[in-house]
Amino acid sequence: MTKPTASTERRYLSGFGNEHASEAVAGALPQGRNNPQRAPFDLYTELLSGTAFTAPRHENRRSWLYRRQPSVVSGRYQPYAQAHWTTGADRAIALPPEPLRWHPLPLDGGAAEADFIDGMHTVAANGDAESQVGIGSLMYLAGRSMERRAFVNADGEMLIVPQQGRLVITTELGVLDVKPGEIALLPRGMVFKVALPDSDAGAGPSRGYVCENYGAQFRLPELGPIGSNGLANARDFQAPVAAFEEDGGAYELVKKFGGRFWKAPTKQSPFNVVAWHGNLAPVKYDTANFMVIGSISFDHPDPSIFTVLTSPSDTPGTANCDFVIFPPRWMVMENTFRPPWFHRNLMSEFMGLVLGEYDAKPGGFKPGGASLHNCMVPHGPDEEAFDKATHADLKPHKLDNTLAFMFESRYRFIPTNFALKSPALDTDYADCWAGLQDQFKP
Ligand SMILES: [Fe+2]
Repeated sequence: MTKPTASTERRYLSGFGNEHASEAVAGALPQGRNNPQRAPFDLYTELLSGTAFTAPRHENRRSWLYRRQPSVVSGRYQPYAQAHWTTGADRAIALPPEPLRWHPLPLDGGAAEADFIDGMHTVAANGDAESQVGIGSLMYLAGRSMERRAFVNADGEMLIVPQQGRLVITTELGVLDVKPGEIALLPRGMVFKVALPDSDAGAGPSRGYVCENYGAQFRLPELGPIGSNGLANARDFQAPVAAFEEDGGAYELVKKFGGRFWKAPTKQSPFNVVAWHGNLAPVKYDTANFMVIGSISFDHPDPSIFTVLTSPSDTPGTANCDFVIFPPRWMVMENTFRPPWFHRNLMSEFMGLVLGEYDAKPGGFKPGGASLHNCMVPHGPDEEAFDKATHADLKPHKLDNTLAFMFESRYRFIPTNFALKSPALDTDYADCWAGLQDQFKP
């Protein structure tokens, strides 16, 4: 593989959960029977399974990797210090029963020196990686590419939502270029590293959100009466073509394993997979390809209509995590209060803003910020949004240049000490509703 740069024209394989096959060197993929006694070119054969062997066929994900050295070849592991990436619900923390919001985490401070791994901060988390339940909601602030450092997360898959700065994500299966507006989904256990071409070019640190999913893998939601087309279409997910690093030499492999961090030296690049086939692959997706569905008469449907990916729990329809986006869209409903109504939900909502303005909070919610509305915590449009929406002239109107999202979970999120003590915590958040007067006029 040539060293990934921002200008490299990348090739991708289209589809989500599809069987793909890709070889960086012609003839490296075994043909005919699955795995012969000796793989072509004497590569090592290695399986990466993302589900239990006996998971139902429609959920079963695994890929076969043909590589120059198996991933078991590494030096000894030693503890690695990563203070801000915590795992699961910390029940020692008193969870405030009110809406919480954070201003954008500042990009000054140590962000410029940190890479994608060292710059990771858990903002809030629920569940427990050991039980394979729940998610972590994280933000990264990073200004440095991972050069000869690689990372592997044994605790969960990672859904990455860049907010500022492009990412070049080198994985065992190939390379993904991901820019703000796009997302990347990296399977549990797959080795990767992240380069920051914009930060490298002097544009300053990069920032984004991550869902670390300890639970069932993300998949496309069922479409029900919508039919066979709509929301995120499978063909718009892009997996990388096989690519491997030619240059030899040592790497440091950082591993997240049971909530702890470890490091080990490797003599060779872990990006040494020459060919692969299977249906477990890293993918990227451009949210601009999301087919938005909404009301074309009056009122609005529940925000589940904006679900891109879902990680189910064992209760049907009650997700471990739904990844939901609020992209640009037309508002055409008649006699309707168009922003979200005031509400208290069973599901807990961690929300972020990639760009623009969110219609329920036109002023206070900034790109790079976050909000947390836990189970049964009341929230809704702020005073300004309420006033505007109740008096608006309801002409067709396009919400443009905006992208907000939610990690929505059945489990309450507990913010970390880092998040609760951060100067970015908006201690005046509740004031945005304080001016809503009793307007009852019998
Ligand atoms: Fe909400």
